[in-house]
Amino acid sequence: MAIEKIVVVDDELMIRKALETQLRNKRYSVASTGDLKGARKILSRDSFDLVFLDLRLPDGEGTDLLEEIMAKADGPMVVMMTGYGSVESAVSCMQMGAFDYVVKPFSFEQIEVVVDKVASFDKMRRVTKYYVEQSDSQSSDIVGESEPVEQLKTLVNKVAKTEASVLITGENGTGKELVARELYRNSMLAKEPYIRVNCAAVTETLMESEFFGHEKGSFTGATERREGRFELADGGTLLLDEISEIAPGLQAKLLRVLQEKEFERVGGNKTIQVKVRVLATTNRDLIKEVEKGNFREDLYYRLNVFPIAVPPLRDRGDDIMLLANTFLDRHVRRHGIDKIKFSKSCEQAIKIHSWPGNVRELENAVERAVILAEPGKAIEADLLGLGHLGNSRTPSSKSMKEKLSTESGAEESMEEVEKRHIMKVLTICEGNRTHAAEKLGLNVRTLRNKIKQYELEI
Ligand SMILES: Nc1ncnc2c1ncn2[C@@H]1O[C@H](COP(=O)(O)OP(=O)(O)OP(=O)(O)O)[C@@H](O)[C@H]1O
Ligand SMILES: [Mg+2]
Repeated sequence: MAIEKIVVVDDELMIRKALETQLRNKRYSVASTGDLKGARKILSRDSFDLVFLDLRLPDGEGTDLLEEIMAKADGPMVVMMTGYGSVESAVSCMQMGAFDYVVKPFSFEQIEVVVDKVASFDKMRRVTKYYVEQSDSQSSDIVGESEPVEQLKTLVNKVAKTEASVLITGENGTGKELVARELYRNSMLAKEPYIRVNCAAVTETLMESEFFGHEKGSFTGATERREGRFELADGGTLLLDEISEIAPGLQAKLLRVLQEKEFERVGGNKTIQVKVRVLATTNRDLIKEVEKGNFREDLYYRLNVFPIAVPPLRDRGDDIMLLANTFLDRHVRRHGIDKIKFSKSCEQAIKIHSWPGNVRELENAVERAVILAEPGKAIEADLLGLGHLGNSRTPSSKSMKEKLSTESGAEESMEEVEKRHIMKVLTICEGNRTHAAEKLGLNVRTLRNKIKQYELEI
């Protein structure tokens, strides 16, 4: 539940004390005061979820404080209390941003109804914020008719109906997030929140707060109390994206919330209970990570109740062209240009390319081509920007192959190239891993693992 801390501002001692006691009995944490000065002091001290605010106070009008609260981006919700019950004053408070008002004398049942209303509104508001965050991803279904994709779709439909944890594996850009969204959309929880957390995106220290939230002042920068993603997803689905990147210390805490369904916020001592369906994705072989000691075995089994493997694009046969045409239509529409087609040789190039970046690479290539295409002319292969034949599945000419292999570096494995490149960037950044990770487009933990893996001394 989102509402925890409440302030009561009323100069009538009887009303104030009664409300305070009743709210405390319902386990809310309550602070109360009889004037505006006291209220400002309380509000500056901590972050609150809800304020019951009297309209007339000894040192001014409640509306003055209402205005101050509304000026803040993340302030508490306000319910006005009025002894005068005039519709005009209530309406003007609502126009200023008050959530609701109650007319004195009121019963505690009335207050309970208001608090419940505030709680559900607040939850909706927070969840909507995250929905907006994710809305850039496509909501369309999984496109494809090849055997592996048909099998994938069947499995997704079956597994969606259960509330079991699902571990979605697959190479980069194969559509793991798309599969996760489909699992959610076809589940019984489709009307409940769907929250995503990218385990690779933030630093280790912030990750715990991202998961579990924090109390005000629990670390530098924690200026307000904040709910974590587990709390936001309560009753719904949580997607742990790129789970292999999660720090070892957090793995134990994650295991606890999955097993016991409870946790504490960072800097807090209250135990919070949640019911959440967990989906996770990874592009690494988690079993290998378990063997290497990077990933807890018990956590692996917890997450992997149902494994779903998303096939690489190169194994999807004719789906490659089907997807290419789907993306062509999509981007032609998006960029508002006249309908165009791929030339025959371009289709051929699409079919023989190995697509190491999978569906995402294909979509990006098609979008690029759409932007570069000349109006009225078919799209030629060079517009796809696929580079030389090094990536094609069937290098067409022997001489081209020979030419490529005699070029410097052609004998090097991908690992050697990566190792050399990391070393170079680390040297440029004078060993600063944070800077180097930024330049390389990796997260710090991944970089650290690679430094260990390649035994790089810097
Ligand atoms: N079968 C499909 N049909 C239609 N679009 C797809 C399909 N598979 C993937 N896509 C699209 O390709 C893009 C990449 O997919 P997604 O982000 O789900 O991949 P991912 O496996 O999570 O990638 P990464 O490993 O990089 O996180 C998205 O725009 C997605 O909508
Ligand atoms: Mg992804």
